[in-house]
Amino acid sequence: MIQSVNTIPAFDIKQQYTTIEAEVSAAVLEVLASGRYIGGPLVEGFEQQFAAYNTVTECVACNSGTDALYLALRVLEIGAGDEVITTPFTFIATSEVISAVGAKPVFVDIDATTFNLDVEQIAAAITPKTKAIIPVHLFGQPVDMTSLMAIAQSHNLSIIEDCAQSTGARWADQKVGSIGHVGCFSFYPTKNLGGCGDGGAITTNDPAIATKLRILRDHGSRIRYLHEEIGVNSRLDALQAAILQIKLRYLDIWNDRRRDIANYYYQFLSQVPGIVPPQELPGGYWGMESIHYSHFRRRAKWFYRQISRLGA
Ligand SMILES: Cc1ncc(COP(=O)(O)O)c(C=O)c1O
Repeated sequence: MIQSVNTIPAFDIKQQYTTIEAEVSAAVLEVLASGRYIGGPLVEGFEQQFAAYNTVTECVACNSGTDALYLALRVLEIGAGDEVITTPFTFIATSEVISAVGAKPVFVDIDATTFNLDVEQIAAAITPKTKAIIPVHLFGQPVDMTSLMAIAQSHNLSIIEDCAQSTGARWADQKVGSIGHVGCFSFYPTKNLGGCGDGGAITTNDPAIATKLRILRDHGSRIRYLHEEIGVNSRLDALQAAILQIKLRYLDIWNDRRRDIANYYYQFLSQVPGIVPPQELPGGYWGMESIHYSHFRRRAKWFYRQISRLGA
């Protein structure tokens, strides 16, 4: 009979908070006292710091990673009749936004060792309707951006990097989100750079794209109450910006720690027959742990039989 089961949570966001509680509490109280809750100097300050961290010239903060991807497609004028190549192994937001702008998501299979888009299969999926590719740097592991940028250049395609799970990761010593035309980030609380609510950002080196994004995120408006086009309400609030400014200072240390913990697990898990730990790429870190269990179905039946026998 199974007596007790110790459950290890996948993550414990409260534990991280306790390490920076004093700084965060002081910053939150300051925002509350300021009366400036949406946009303003704290958001602008965070945009500058996040741009510098990612070695780009522009950062436009918004309300979520989903909005970041949606706004990126809008700014690149991708819509009805267009095709966008992406991975099927991601959170739904990546393909959802392609459909939301009226375009068609075209899925290319993943590489079994990295779980990322198999770049070698992309060329076969390109048609005259293809306008962009959205690579997802899944679980903190960078996509092969050198090959991807070469494909994009030869077919005149835009690259929108989905960096929602990979803030701080690098490909060939370049930060993800600084290599494609735009980079899209999520600050959802469980992300490696997570706020205490929803949040997102778009990075780019193109000032014209950044200007257009700022208009789109604010109801299509450059000047208050003058609306040039149909936009959305996707502004970052000052509380999130204040918290994210603090967390950004610790991010590299936290990413290193994730790498160490993942390596510790894999050292032992790789000894279990049937478990194939994914390959860690240089510049990557494991944002979420993930393994490939090659005999899953067979083992699941065996496991079920044992459990049934125990009467659990
Ligand atoms: C790969 C990926 N893309 C996009 C998103 C969307 O981000 P958000 O939840 O901030 O809208 C997520 C979030 O889970 C994600 O994991």
